[in-house]
Amino acid sequence: MAELILGQVLSFDASPFVEGEAAARHIAEGAVLVEDGRIAAVGEAAALRSAHPQAAITDMGRALLSAGFVDAHVHYPQTAMIASWGKRLIDWLNQYTFPEEMRFADPAYAAEIAARYIGLVTANGTTSFCTYSTTHPASVDAIFTAARSAGMRIFAGKTCMDRNGPPGLLDTVQRAYDESKALLERWHGVDRLSYVITPRFSPTSTPEQMAVLGALWKEHPQCLMQTHLSEQTDEIAWVKELYPQARDYLDTYEPQDLLREGAVYGHAIHLTEREKARLIEADASLIHCPTSNTFIGSGLFDMGLATQLRVGLATDTGGGSSFSMLRTMAAAYEIAQLRHMPLHPSHLWWLATQGSARALRVEDRIGNLAPGMEADLIAVDLASTPAIEQATRRAENLWQELFPTIMMGDDRAIRAVWIGGRKAI
Ligand code: GUN
Ligand code: ZN
Repeated sequence: MAELILGQVLSFDASPFVEGEAAARHIAEGAVLVEDGRIAAVGEAAALRSAHPQAAITDMGRALLSAGFVDAHVHYPQTAMIASWGKRLIDWLNQYTFPEEMRFADPAYAAEIAARYIGLVTANGTTSFCTYSTTHPASVDAIFTAARSAGMRIFAGKTCMDRNGPPGLLDTVQRAYDESKALLERWHGVDRLSYVITPRFSPTSTPEQMAVLGALWKEHPQCLMQTHLSEQTDEIAWVKELYPQARDYLDTYEPQDLLREGAVYGHAIHLTEREKARLIEADASLIHCPTSNTFIGSGLFDMGLATQLRVGLATDTGGGSSFSMLRTMAAAYEIAQLRHMPLHPSHLWWLATQGSARALRVEDRIGNLAPGMEADLIAVDLASTPAIEQATRRAENLWQELFPTIMMGDDRAIRAVWIGGRKAI
């Protein structure tokens, strides 16, 4: 049965980083026709109503209909330790993160947190995400199982690390290869699930472990590979000690065949000119994690790179301080302001939807409202709190009406969520 959802519609014809705000398409009295889990049509409400008289009508009033948010870098196992106080990256990992990740040796705990995480992000309008797990294969099974029953398109992989962590959390070169391969064969391409080869980062993987993961990636070139790159200056100094031969941080991945299209690097804040040139040449993806970069004190990402590279947006739960992509857009705006680059609302919304989908190389399936795309969509209340409502009263266009929600909105703004055409909220 077809469903015709009415509201203001926001979609994109191109990237606002290339075409400016003209890349966005706004229909004030619009509609989205959903049929068999896909978007069948997007257009004026009146025209679609008369063309599809049999469709069930869901009227969202003046709410904004958009593609669901795509969170391109998260650690779902860090859900319960989000907002842990007072540490920078390496101490934060040792004091809070690794002990929490050790708990995922218990499959029941993994299942509990996977379900909790999916509930939290769905309430925040996130319909797709790319997550790290822990070294335990059961942590990957847990998140894929939960996402599959929710009908979500997600990306996940076993986090591989064979040094510089507590013994109970470490795997080995051989286990990283064998367990990643087994999980990839079990899950990749099942329903809407994709496996991602996941070395945590250079300090916690030996070159030998990264080499076998590079080999696994060559055997399965259709998969993505995710890791961390140049997040914090103390981390970069440590990488220099661990890899004295490497020209820079990226050069710890390159010789292990962990740099090419489909590589997805989180953070990527303190890049050298050589690294930028190689990333562009390789058509790799960078993921901006703004609440994490301020929370852990990492630095200010250069959004100018979005004109040359695939750049996605992410919460980086639980280094990030929020599950909300609205809050994440606000932080991206603030960081860009500190770099004298005011991001337009169209830039921010695109990053949280198409930009992230493009970084994960699924921009033809999710992250936009267009015929043929999978029906992951949200209805956003643009007056969800008294503070936001009063700030929108004098708005003369969509961007003025939307920006207070970007800056001050949270899960209260998410009125409805459809995942694969099915109403989830
Ligand atoms: N670098 C390596 N592991 C992590 C992690 O879990 N979070 C963040 N923010 N950076 C990392
Ligand atoms: Zn991360």
